[in-house]
Amino acid sequence: MSTQNFDVVVIGAGPGGYIAAIRAAQLGMNVACVDEWENAKGGPAPGGTCTNVGCIPSKALLQSSEHFEHLNHHFAEHGISADNVKIDVAKMVARKDAVVKQNNDGILYLFKKNKVSFFHGRGSFVAARDGGYELKAGDASLFAKQVVVATGSSARALPGAPFDEETILSNDGALRIAGTPKKLGLIGAGVIGLEMGSVWRRLGAEVTILEALPAFLGAADEGVAKEAAKVFKKQGLDIQLGVKISEVKVGKAGVSVAYADAKGDAKNLEVDKLIVSIGRVPNTQGLNADAVGLKLDERGAIVVDDDCKTNLPGVWAVGDVVRGPMLAHKAEEEGVAVAERMAGQHGHVDFALVPWVIYTSPEIAWVGKTEQQLKAEGRAYKAGQFPFIANGRARALGDTTGFVKLLADAQTDELLGAHIIGPYASELIAECAMAMAFKASSEDIARICHAHPSLSESTKEAALAVDKRTLNF
Ligand code: FAD
Ligand code: NAI
Repeated sequence: MSTQNFDVVVIGAGPGGYIAAIRAAQLGMNVACVDEWENAKGGPAPGGTCTNVGCIPSKALLQSSEHFEHLNHHFAEHGISADNVKIDVAKMVARKDAVVKQNNDGILYLFKKNKVSFFHGRGSFVAARDGGYELKAGDASLFAKQVVVATGSSARALPGAPFDEETILSNDGALRIAGTPKKLGLIGAGVIGLEMGSVWRRLGAEVTILEALPAFLGAADEGVAKEAAKVFKKQGLDIQLGVKISEVKVGKAGVSVAYADAKGDAKNLEVDKLIVSIGRVPNTQGLNADAVGLKLDERGAIVVDDDCKTNLPGVWAVGDVVRGPMLAHKAEEEGVAVAERMAGQHGHVDFALVPWVIYTSPEIAWVGKTEQQLKAEGRAYKAGQFPFIANGRARALGDTTGFVKLLADAQTDELLGAHIIGPYASELIAECAMAMAFKASSEDIARICHAHPSLSESTKEAALAVDKRTLNF
């Protein structure tokens, strides 16, 4: 078998890998990208977790289930009524699959457009030689001086309860449940637990989420987490905190979960299906990392510096397989920066300004520091908050839950954090991230003319609130 030479080989075509490949090709490098994900027909399905069993399909189901919820519970107040509302779960899931396929096809098109050579199959190291690396890409043999590892992550299972994707589900099975379960259990009240719990609650499942930590949404600003807990409880999500799972048993009728509640009392949860969403583990098993001495940490993640350099010359790693938040946009930013560094440019990622979004209803989004982080740092700050109930557009939408909260330095007024719970928080957070990237003060936002009526006026009003001079509240 003859070896094909490239300037760069990227292993993994998730958001970290495919974006790195495209940017490297744009910068004039001869690039190969290898990815092993298969669609139902055994064909290539580039896009990684994000496209196949993550960001995109989860948002498709969140959208469908939200339409159903609106039709059932919220349209009546607009004078719109419908009888006999039904959900065809199979059709909803088929639509989600079609959305996924559009994205897979889009990436294959982008590879062609940018002249990235795509290999479908497993990528692994064979040996280091001649100042570069020999690699396997499916059946092909490749050589490159630069390698970008972007192999992503997989769901972590509970000890003693492996995923069967029928009854005990990872994010994969959770996105293709064939009909609404009567009772659904979730382990872990993190991002997946809340998003998937919301989907199936809206479709009629009785949802219980068991969370080990005593505090709800610990990474979010405390004010936002408190509001979210209140709203989710009202919606009917039963979230139990501070639990300790002792045993998970699969029976004929479903799953039973034995656990101790926060008081230490023994409890049992009987559900038809159980989604386990307790975090993810990096994918490094298939890489043959030992063959070249690529350094992994105790979790199996690839060890990198701030520039995504590994311990090996010419080998980089980005995305979920390295330290930092497991987010698609963080993976993409690292992919671009690495491609630019390989081209001798100064790629840059501002890890302090990676936004977080949880696509529940209401949406939750933040960027920068939380109030509790600023307190822990002993940094003097001012807070300004504006509720959506006082925003005309939110009232017209009929979606007035939540608020925008801004945190600014007490002396300089520089924005340090933005925290939003409410309608379209995912979109509103971009203005805050941009303002913070330009080192704006809260006064800068307060002085900008925001269109009326728009939800973004709440951000302006929160900025005015930092100076205790809101106009509409
Ligand atoms: P991945 O997307 O995991 O891609 C890695 C690719 O490498 C895969 O295709 C894999 O098959 C392939 N691969 C692995 N090993 C090899 C090998 N040896 N050879 C060849 N190919 C290999 N993030 C957000 O920012 N927003 C969201 O809304 C969001 N929603 C999510 C919802 C769910 C249910 C889940 C599970 C995750 C979600 N995420 C979200 C996280 C996001 O999906 C990940 O952070 C992102 O996909 C990481 O990108 P990556 O390129 O590092 O890895
Ligand atoms: P997560 O880290 O968000 O949440 C896991 C939760 O499980 C935590 O609250 C943790 O305390 C809890 N937990 C851990 N072990 C437990 C146990 N034994 N029993 C009970 N609870 C336990 O991880 P999750 O939800 O699995 O998602 C993985 C990652 O995927 C996220 O961290 C995020 O990076 C990404 N993601 C991002 C989304 C977004 O950006 N909207 C959506 C979904 C996932």
